Amino acid sequence: MLVFAKIKSVQEKLKSLKNGTTIGFVPTMGALHEGHLSLVEKAKKENDIVVVSIFVNPTQFDNAEDLINYPKTIDKDLSLLKSTYCDIVFTPTPEEIYANDIQSQSFDFDGLEFQMEGKFRAGHFNGVGTIVERLFEIVKPHKAYFGEKDFQQIQIIRKMTEKRNLHVKIIACPIHREMDGLAMSSRNMRLTKEQRTAAPFIYETLKKAKDKFGTKNASEVVKWVENEFKNHPIFRLEYVEIADEDTLLPVETKNPAKKYRAFIAVFAGNVRLIDNISL
Ligand code: PAF
Repeated sequence: MLVFAKIKSVQEKLKSLKNGTTIGFVPTMGALHEGHLSLVEKAKKENDIVVVSIFVNPTQFDNAEDLINYPKTIDKDLSLLKSTYCDIVFTPTPEEIYANDIQSQSFDFDGLEFQMEGKFRAGHFNGVGTIVERLFEIVKPHKAYFGEKDFQQIQIIRKMTEKRNLHVKIIACPIHREMDGLAMSSRNMRLTKEQRTAAPFIYETLKKAKDKFGTKNASEVVKWVENEFKNHPIFRLEYVEIADEDTLLPVETKNPAKKYRAFIAVFAGNVRLIDNISL
């Protein structure tokens, strides 16, 4: 496994590959867990080589404290990746990526950016679009792999590749969960013991919401979830929404031809967790 921190060096290596070599790309912000490793495994099955990037992208954090507190575990990440089929790791610094101008571009994602996460994390998706497009430009992957925990992010990246005519196939991979149902996330390591013990409640509630969606309308299910979190001793609900998978717009009248998902964001102290379930 080769590790490069410089754009020039990773590009030289990628250019030296035999013509026709297919590249699978897994962009990450590090603090890797089994969910990330499953993306690497899938990428290796579908491509000749796998490139993983580890870069905590400053422009997608709307909150300076969240950026400072984001877990950074580069040595552990590299040793985990060594145990997988990862061929190349790209670990640039913010200066390498952004030079002296750590700023996002402004994107139009046809409104996907104004729903859910977009309402609560100002500028977040401009930051995601900026870094993902930049990384695609550097790595030039054939396929890129993303976890469905960040389902809205996947739809936004799909929209970006379509609108900017980027030749990368976006592969969505199912959410990886801990044994007790908690969606794997780099942020989970910041939970206290008490918060971690309580955390399966999030997915349990989503599963019950899925059952209820069979017989109730979306607004009734949303109200039910809000009520479940009311006065919860550990979690503060930021939002719950039932939305169309394609448009991400909240569902008003159910249409059997459409696919829906329930999305949730909650705070445990100052740790923000998101999850979703296909309905
Ligand atoms: O999902 C993430 O970890 C990040 O948003 C990504 C896609 C690596 C961009 O920084």
